[in-house]
Formats: sequence, structure tokens, C-alpha cells
Amino acid sequence: MTTPVLELVDVHVQFHTREAGLFSRHRLHALTGIDLWINHGETVGVVGESGCGKSTLARVLVGLQAPTSGLVRLRGDDLSTMTAKTRRQAIGSTVGMIYQDPSTALNPRLSVSAILSDPLEVHHRGSRAQRSARVRELMSLVGLPSSLAEVFPGQLSGGQRQRVAIGRALALDPEIVIADEPTSALDVSVRAQILSLLLDLKERLGLAMVFISHDIQTVQRVADRVVTMYLGRIVEEAPCTAIPEGIRHPYTQALFSATPSILHPADPIELVGPMPSPVHPPSGCPFRTRCWRATDLCAESIPDAVADINSPQHNYRCYYPVEPRSLTG
Ligand SMILES: Nc1ncnc2c1ncn2[C@@H]1O[C@H](COP(=O)(O)OP(=O)(O)OP(=O)(O)O)[C@@H](O)[C@H]1O
Ligand code: SF4
Ligand SMILES: [Mg+2]
Repeated sequence: MTTPVLELVDVHVQFHTREAGLFSRHRLHALTGIDLWINHGETVGVVGESGCGKSTLARVLVGLQAPTSGLVRLRGDDLSTMTAKTRRQAIGSTVGMIYQDPSTALNPRLSVSAILSDPLEVHHRGSRAQRSARVRELMSLVGLPSSLAEVFPGQLSGGQRQRVAIGRALALDPEIVIADEPTSALDVSVRAQILSLLLDLKERLGLAMVFISHDIQTVQRVADRVVTMYLGRIVEEAPCTAIPEGIRHPYTQALFSATPSILHPADPIELVGPMPSPVHPPSGCPFRTRCWRATDLCAESIPDAVADINSPQHNYRCYYPVEPRSLTG
């Protein structure tokens, strides 16, 4: 077995927080028991509703958020055993990050060329001339005309800004890119272009990628494997070839049923009630308060991850999984 580029082992992230109107502090369970690995060249899609922990997961993967407990391994090396400097160097040269909103992710006071050369300078890459050449190369890679080199982010369109952000993420020639909802803040008209650019770069550069989105249909198009998160936990992990027919977890089924072009448009599964508070997660299965298949057993303990008999790469946490192919009737 090859060593994954990135690996999370039993990662938990808890934040101390105050609930509105109350003075006591609470623990918010943003991530609970996350096991995840990403192999060289592989794209893993992450889906789930707002607040389920997707961005926290992204921040853990790029070293911006230290886990409360658990391990993060970069090419097999435990990040927590590295000095801060070694960790910054190791992450900086291996992992690139693309954020949701390019208008806030780019420094408005730096020109496009300064934004793209910044990571090269921070990591002492090349001479001045080599850095300039790399900036030109990056601009061409992400489809930005060289005439925009000295322009500031405020003068660019949303799509152009996201191209700059993608170029910056690729500046140090990373092995893996973490893209946290990279198209959701963009105009609908440019989303497809940015998605195509990412897919093209992934192929050309042989990148591994973690692609986060609440749109399961987009994720299925981009990823090799789809991870479904609910209330800070991974509840299902399935190869794209098993989706949608092979879905086993009721929550993933509900997410897919809301995408009309894949399922019968007249038959969406409506989730009743809000996602529970991550400050007071329910006992047992986190989905049980909204699950139409729940019984008393579901409140007792979180189901173990079970591998699907048809595909060992596919696992889910559910006592009463849906039958494969039941989606297509
Ligand atoms: N720094 C923080 N301090 C306190 N709570 C936080 C912090 N960051 C995130 N949270 C909480 O952790 C939970 C997970 O947040 P996160 O941003 O990871 O969700 P998400 O899935 O990315 O949501 P969205 O789809 O809206 O971007 C939420 O309840 C959020 O309010
Ligand atoms: S374990 Fe129970 S509550 Fe959780 S998804 Fe399965 S059936 Fe629903
Ligand atoms: Mg988010």
C-alpha cells in the first residue's frame, strides 16, 4: 500500500463557545472521530449541509486548525511532532488551499503578480527572475492574460479573482489542493468555467484534491470518492461509481434526492427539522432526530462503520441502511 498524501486518524475538533444569552461556556463538537486519507492523484469530494464541519475539516487538512485530539499525517509524517517551522515548510510545499470567497481571500493591496509571487518569496523559491517567470507561467496556467499582472483584486471579476486564488494555491507546485466550496461565491455563469479549470489542472498536474461542496451533484462530477458529513462526523464514504444507485446511508440518500436531474424530481426526501446543535449532539447516530428509519437502537450508540459487501472501498454508519438500487426503483 502506498502512503497517503494526507491522512487524518480519529481527529476531533472542539471549540469553546458561549450560547446566545448564556454566560456558561460550552464545547462545540465541530469534528468527531474523523478518519480520512487521500492518496496521490485522488480526488475526494466532501458533502454535507451548512455547519456540518466541512471548512473545519479543510482547515485541519492545511494545518490552520490543530485537532483537539487525533493525528494528521502528511506523507506519513505526524504534523504534531514537527517544529512550527518544519510544519509550515512541509505543508506549504505539499498542500495548496482554495477558499470559498476570492474577494476576501486575496490581499486587496497586492497586485496579481505580487499575490502569485508571495508564496515563492515566503518559501525562498528561486531568484527574482525565476520567480517572475513562475508568475507568468502560473497566470497562463490558470488562463489569466499577462496584461492583468499589475492589476489589483478589486479591479478583477469574481471569476478572475478565483483564477488568481487557484494560481496562488499552485505556486509551490503542491501535491494536493484543498478546495473549500471554490465556486459557490461566484456568478452562476462562471461556475462551470472555474470547475472545468480545476478539473483540467487536476489532470494536467496529477494533483490530489479535496473538493468540498454542499452540491452533491458537482462533487460527484469531480471526485473519485465521496465523503458525506453530518454534524461533524463522516457517515458514509463511497466511490463515485457506487453513486447514486449504491448509496446506503439515509442522509446521503436524502441529499441526492434533492437533485432533480439525478432522481425523480417528484420524489425528494424532505428532512424534517433543523440539524441539531453541535453543542448538544444527540446520543447515538447523529442523524436520528431527522431520520425516517430511526428506532430506539439508533439512540443507543453510534453505529460502527460497515464496509459494503459489493465494494470494500464503500463504508457507512447506519443500523438500517437503505437497499442499493432502491433509489432508481
Ligand atoms: N472558530 C470557531 N469557533 C467556534 N465555533 C466554530 C468555529 N469555526 C467553526 N465553528 C462551528 O463549527 C461548526 C462547523 O463549522 P464549519 O464552518 O466547519 O461548517 P461548514 O460545513 O463549512 O459550513 P458551511 O457550509 O456553512 O460553510 C459550526 O457549528 C460552526 O459554527
Ligand atoms: S443509524 Fe438509525 S438514525 Fe442513523 S441513519 Fe441509520 S437508521 Fe437513521
Ligand atoms: Mg464552510
